[in-house]
Amino acid sequence: MNRFDGLAATWDDDPAKVAGAERAAASLRDAIPLVGSGWAALELGSGTGLLSRALAADLGAITLVDTSEQMTIIGAERVSAATEEHVTACCLDLTVETPPTAPYEIAYSMLALHHMEDVAAVLMAVHEVLVPGGWVGILDLDHDPDGSFHRAGAGEHHPHEHRPQGHERLDHEHLGQHEHADQHGTESVDHVHDGFSPATLTTLLRSAGFVDVEVAMAGFAVEKGEPPRAYPVVRAVGRRAPSDTMTDAVSPTDPG
Ligand SMILES: C[S@@+](CC[C@H](N)C(=O)[O-])C[C@H]1O[C@@H](n2cnc3c(N)ncnc32)[C@H](O)[C@@H]1O
Repeated sequence: MNRFDGLAATWDDDPAKVAGAERAAASLRDAIPLVGSGWAALELGSGTGLLSRALAADLGAITLVDTSEQMTIIGAERVSAATEEHVTACCLDLTVETPPTAPYEIAYSMLALHHMEDVAAVLMAVHEVLVPGGWVGILDLDHDPDGSFHRAGAGEHHPHEHRPQGHERLDHEHLGQHEHADQHGTESVDHVHDGFSPATLTTLLRSAGFVDVEVAMAGFAVEKGEPPRAYPVVRAVGRRAPSDTMTDAVSPTDPG
């Protein structure tokens, strides 16, 4: 069982998560001309689809992608209740499988990328499912060098899992990754990356093929711990080049 499955039913009970999604939506609206667009949208690492619900009034069909089955089941119900448009939820790994609803005019993600091990591959997969000119908008934690975000309140929101040492790793320094080893000789993989600096996100998006990349602080923070500490959120925006050709063309529309 995916460990996020057990968190799905009560995920939305935390008012801070709901408020964070509203702020994330406002930040994306500031950076991407999505208001009233009716664009076909993909939310990656959607969880229960909080961000999609906050953006639904401006979007067309919405597809939720998450590797937790329970998150996708609950997300499908709750996003469907927030829009008249078609909602599809897929429990899959985007680096392995393409959702049947591709391509999209916009793909976005909130506080999920740092849970994905091969971020470079994920962003390349996102690039591939966008129409030429399509937008990407990523909101994630700023680099958290001491890893305290994922230690604060670990039992409530981020229970730890372990895997044996020796598992293939990414370039930690480049991605700002931080490991925690315990006395049993295993390392926590509750999260994979301790956030991303703006410079790292810029490099990752450009390397995945995105153009017009703009990375800035998102204008809000996530609070965690006791006493509460604010963890700033970074917003990264880019586009698939309008001149790009698609490998799997599926009646693309012009995202403006
Ligand atoms: C911290 S939660 C964030 C959920 C939601 N975006 C939110 O802010 O409420 C991270 C989510 O990413 C999902 N996830 C982790 N790795 C993933 C992957 N490789 N592909 C898609 N989803 C993934 C988890 O199942 C989980 O639902």
